[in-house]
Amino acid sequence: MPSPLAPSATDPLWWRSAVIYQIYIRSFADGNGDGVGDIAGVRSQLPYLRDLGVDAIWFTPWYPSPLADGGYDVADYRNIHPAFGDLAGAEALIQEALALGIRTIIDVVPNHISDQHEWFQAALAAGPGSPERERFWFRKGKGADGSEMPNHWVSNFQGETWTRVPDGEWYLHLFTPEQPDLNWNHPDVRREHEDVLRFWFDRGVAGVRIDSAALLIKDPALPEVPENPGPGEHPNTDRDEVHDVYRSWRAVADSYPGTRVLVGEVWMPDTKRFADYLRPDEMHTAFNFDFMARPWQAAQLRESIDSMLAAHAPVNAPSTWVLSNHDVTRPVTRYGREDSSFAFATKRFGTPTDLELGTRRARAAALLSAALPGSLYVYQGDELGLPEVDEIPLREDPMHFRSNGVDPGRDGCRVPLPWRGDAPPYGWGGTPWLPQPENWAPLTVESQQNDPTSMLSLYRAALALRRSTAALGDGDLEWIESEPDVLAFARGEDFISVTNLSDGPVGLPAHEQLLLTSEPLVDGQLPSDSTAWLRRSPITPQRKARR
Ligand code: NOJ
Repeated sequence: MPSPLAPSATDPLWWRSAVIYQIYIRSFADGNGDGVGDIAGVRSQLPYLRDLGVDAIWFTPWYPSPLADGGYDVADYRNIHPAFGDLAGAEALIQEALALGIRTIIDVVPNHISDQHEWFQAALAAGPGSPERERFWFRKGKGADGSEMPNHWVSNFQGETWTRVPDGEWYLHLFTPEQPDLNWNHPDVRREHEDVLRFWFDRGVAGVRIDSAALLIKDPALPEVPENPGPGEHPNTDRDEVHDVYRSWRAVADSYPGTRVLVGEVWMPDTKRFADYLRPDEMHTAFNFDFMARPWQAAQLRESIDSMLAAHAPVNAPSTWVLSNHDVTRPVTRYGREDSSFAFATKRFGTPTDLELGTRRARAAALLSAALPGSLYVYQGDELGLPEVDEIPLREDPMHFRSNGVDPGRDGCRVPLPWRGDAPPYGWGGTPWLPQPENWAPLTVESQQNDPTSMLSLYRAALALRRSTAALGDGDLEWIESEPDVLAFARGEDFISVTNLSDGPVGLPAHEQLLLTSEPLVDGQLPSDSTAWLRRSPITPQRKARR
């Protein structure tokens, strides 16, 4: 008997309040015992995800790929990497998850493909001037012998963005050479991606997460990047024409029953330009990285919350709340550092970290973010409080290699999850593809699931309360006057969240019931670096009149 659907299962606006769990499939669970996570592993752990209380799962790319960039180098958008399973398994997973009330979101990677994709192989074989090359950015080089790159754009993974092929032409790649950029002015490219969306929507996926969503369109003249490009003036990022792509994708999504959502990965400091992606005929939501990147300081977080809510309001889109993902330093590590902000450029080996403090703050941040208006993303392993792993002898990430080993890269947040047992491989078969620390026994699901003080228990309790509290999820927030370095706000008539980022304990606002705390209260006060959820008495007509 399938379990009853989650309350949101039939709601067309489910995405406005949803809790979405991110699965980095290689590292989630190992179904066939080969040390690599797979679809069978996810299927076996669907009850775990149901009990955690998530509304949807988002899979990072699960397609055939040489894995030069962890799967973001897709060789075939309509199949599954053999190490992860097969298409029939993916189809079964989508249906089994739905039966538990969990929707499936998949990753699409439109900016680039793998150099092993048949289009790129055909372009290499067909040679200069061929129609096959027009789907990419092939150009002659500069200089008398064409040996200079067409321009000096810098890769998102550092270094050059052009690679020369044996016949002398160069091709553009904003990431690694194994990820050639597609030419979005070409009708084949547009048609192909709309077909890929249909392929997966036909199989029941509820939405797509759009990789590097602002990069697709390039200025065809390929000029150098100006010093301070104005809005829309950057030659390869956030160009105005990119919105046409998402308008067509929205039309595809809207042609399906139920709400199929478009979720953008849009890194954009200009909040107005960011919100443009969320106009009613474009994407539904986009990741709010501003909040994630802020340090653990009340004024900073409050400013981010206010500015992101204000940016979303004119387009009537809900904000998202994201504490981490497969690209960034795990929260328990980040919040335990002197500089608790996140930036790719400042990642270094050996940064001193107080994991106890970081874990305490990550618990507080989990409740804070789950109480804010909009949808919530949980990256696998954050519900277990996993730290970033520094000790990885053989790193795989191109971000690490392309920085000449200065940047630790992203392997440290991608270590296979510990399920059970006292030592590695913690429920995995063989040798996990990235080594797990020896001291993770207290962090396994097995050791946390019956411990009421564990991170896992906190997440379960928070997500259950979030689901049963109508005021949480989509809606408004009202700040409550509080002491300095305290973030206190009300949702709806009677829900209050208070986060104490000050050095000492603080009193709580008047309330009828203490719903949940990230740390026990001390003499009725909320200790430093913790969050409390409260129920106050519903607003009386008199109090309403005073507001
Ligand atoms: C963003 C993805 O999250 C990241 O993992 C990937 O390396 C780049 N886009 C390139 O696809």
